[in-house]
Amino acid sequence: MHMLEIRDLHVEAGGREILKGVNLTIDEGETVTLFGPNGSGKSTLMAAIMGYAYCKVTKGSIFYEGVDITNMPVDERAKMGIGMMMQRPPNVVGVKLGDLLQTISRNNGDVLKHAGDFKMNNHLDRDLNVGFSGGEIKRSEVLQLTAQNPKLVLLDEPESGVDLESIELIGDKIHDLLYNTELCEMGRAKANRCVSALVITHTGQILDYIGADKGYIINDGRIRCSGRPTDLLKEIREKGYKECISCRMVKLP
Ligand SMILES: Nc1ncnc2c1ncn2[C@@H]1O[C@H](COP(=O)(O)OP(=O)(O)OP(=O)(O)O)[C@@H](O)[C@H]1O
Ligand SMILES: [Mg+2]
Repeated sequence: MHMLEIRDLHVEAGGREILKGVNLTIDEGETVTLFGPNGSGKSTLMAAIMGYAYCKVTKGSIFYEGVDITNMPVDERAKMGIGMMMQRPPNVVGVKLGDLLQTISRNNGDVLKHAGDFKMNNHLDRDLNVGFSGGEIKRSEVLQLTAQNPKLVLLDEPESGVDLESIELIGDKIHDLLYNTELCEMGRAKANRCVSALVITHTGQILDYIGADKGYIINDGRIRCSGRPTDLLKEIREKGYKECISCRMVKLP
């Protein structure tokens, strides 16, 4: 059984078909990267997996740990262990970061002690994301994931707009998330990585910290090819998406 299995997923947003038949699998403890040009549907795919209401599934299905979650509300998916680091999370006036962390924490609020490690201890009594810098938003997102302790982590461009020092911090913390010893000890892990991940990255920088097992390229709402993430990234860098996708498409099953 796959941790996540997406079958022929078609998704509409704003009255337009964005995803046009996506097939993708992630196994337990596997880190999978998703590459693709701007506007190709990467964030929409993550939002559909998480269950955001603006993504309307018109065809196909999403299975998580063998359960069909295609029509499940977002909060139930979160409770089942799916967590997401958004590309551009919204400002939430009236909800303080510290309160949110305590609410979502599976460790009964212990996570507040970790806020300092994320350089976020001065933000706990601030409204979520309001006035946060780009780097602070990213650190806050990873801190929230750490509180939530998910089994499947969706990371939408975790390193974009982050300075070099913070990339190291974010990379290390995401590494810790994926090699979560608590879940490992609960016997979830086959290999030494316990948590599954889907990672969107344009630069591949985050992969220096977390490694990756498998990669996909999406374009115009369809998965065009899969392969080793480092190979895909090399081809994208050398040939750009257009040529890379057209030359590899023939190799797809
Ligand atoms: N709610 C919506 N209403 C209308 N169009 C939408 C909506 N959400 C997404 N889209 C469109 O769907 C397409 C894919 O968007 P998406 O955010 O998934 O791209 P992406 O691959 O994540 O791109 P990027 O690399 O720039 O983040 C875009 O053309 C976008 O404008
Ligand atoms: Mg995006």
